[in-house]
Amino acid sequence: MLSVQDNEKLTRVGPGTPMGKLMREFWHPAVRADSIVAGGAPKPFRLLGEDLVAFRNADGSAGFMQRHCPHRCVSLALARNEGDGLRCIFHGWKFNSDGKVVDVPTEPEDRREAFAERVPVTTYPAREAGGIIWIYMGARKEPPNFFNFEFHHPPAASLVRCAIVHGNWLQGFEGQLDSAHLNFLHSSSVPKAPNDAGSMVAHDSAPQFQVIEQPYGFREAALRKMQDGSTYARIREVVLPYWSFIPGNHGEPRLVVVVTPIDDERSAHWYYYMSPFGPVPQWYIDQALRGAGPDHNDFAADRGDIGNTWHQDRAAMADGHFSGLLKNFVYEDFIIEESMGPIMDRSKEFLGSSDAIIVRTRRMLLKALEEHEQGKLPFGLDQKIDYRAIRSLSIRFPEGFDWRDIDPANPPEFNFEKDVAAAQG
Ligand code: FES
Ligand SMILES: [Fe+2]
Repeated sequence: MLSVQDNEKLTRVGPGTPMGKLMREFWHPAVRADSIVAGGAPKPFRLLGEDLVAFRNADGSAGFMQRHCPHRCVSLALARNEGDGLRCIFHGWKFNSDGKVVDVPTEPEDRREAFAERVPVTTYPAREAGGIIWIYMGARKEPPNFFNFEFHHPPAASLVRCAIVHGNWLQGFEGQLDSAHLNFLHSSSVPKAPNDAGSMVAHDSAPQFQVIEQPYGFREAALRKMQDGSTYARIREVVLPYWSFIPGNHGEPRLVVVVTPIDDERSAHWYYYMSPFGPVPQWYIDQALRGAGPDHNDFAADRGDIGNTWHQDRAAMADGHFSGLLKNFVYEDFIIEESMGPIMDRSKEFLGSSDAIIVRTRRMLLKALEEHEQGKLPFGLDQKIDYRAIRSLSIRFPEGFDWRDIDPANPPEFNFEKDVAAAQG
């Protein structure tokens, strides 16, 4: 449990709040790269409590600008994109992606230039990588480290899509850290063939967690004992403030989940279906998209709400489905988060031993907030970090082996003659 004050500190992200200031040190995924086209319509979005638009100039470069016209607050989502700036459709003022006012046709001609200089326009630096346009919303002249993840480089490839969830970013991120729920919430949606991840996870509902802290966050192993004495380890990487690298078997595609704060009460959940080894295979994409909505910018819009208990199917539950939330694996996560309320009150929770990672992460976040107030950059931004080497892994290994010795990019191979089902028997 947290004090009300600490909960406020961790969850509020608007300008001037402690977490808002810390978050503004980072580059954030803002919009999918294919959602804006050169010279095309500006796309409205909201991030860290600020209303913005994203657009592309005629040369293809991306820009971010405050959503509301500095003159009389008309939405610039309606603006004309003239290829070298946005022109507001109300009175024709024009702004470019460097934050300059380049035309104010409603002012007397001889005063225009001097007048334009006085009009403040907020724009932010943009960068494109991995199918996403990234934004830096901080105050530094030189933005800090960019996350140079492996899925930003060939041969790795990814499909990225986004879901808008009505819940604070931290409950979304904590849901990703909470491995214990795999055995319950997702127990009907993970595969159950012998020796696959589903059956090994199902085998032990109280895994042991071990953590190695890293400058960027931590590496965590959820260790599950199999009956033959071997261990099934899910080694996850967490890049703070909100990146979670979900484990996958060596040689197979996997998932990276990011929860960015839209504002205090809503979050954008980004799903990177990625393969370090080349194009993401179609079977993996089909599996990921099964049952989900078609709009990659908000793929879970049809999940329902409290009014219809998110379409929970009680008949399916009577038939053996654990959660009764049938649409898509990740909808289960979104729905439990929304059910907590817009900002979960952590002073009212009662934690158990399976919540140790969540507790630890909160401590790391609170410590980073404190140090940030004193001028220290958070989570390794002041260090040279090889983000490209960060990779998660699921692996089963024999007794006597230590997961800390495993290089996730180049893991040892073990041959298990008996599968889990046989071991159980
Ligand atoms: S409101 Fe935009 S130019 Fe007047
Ligand atoms: Fe989940």
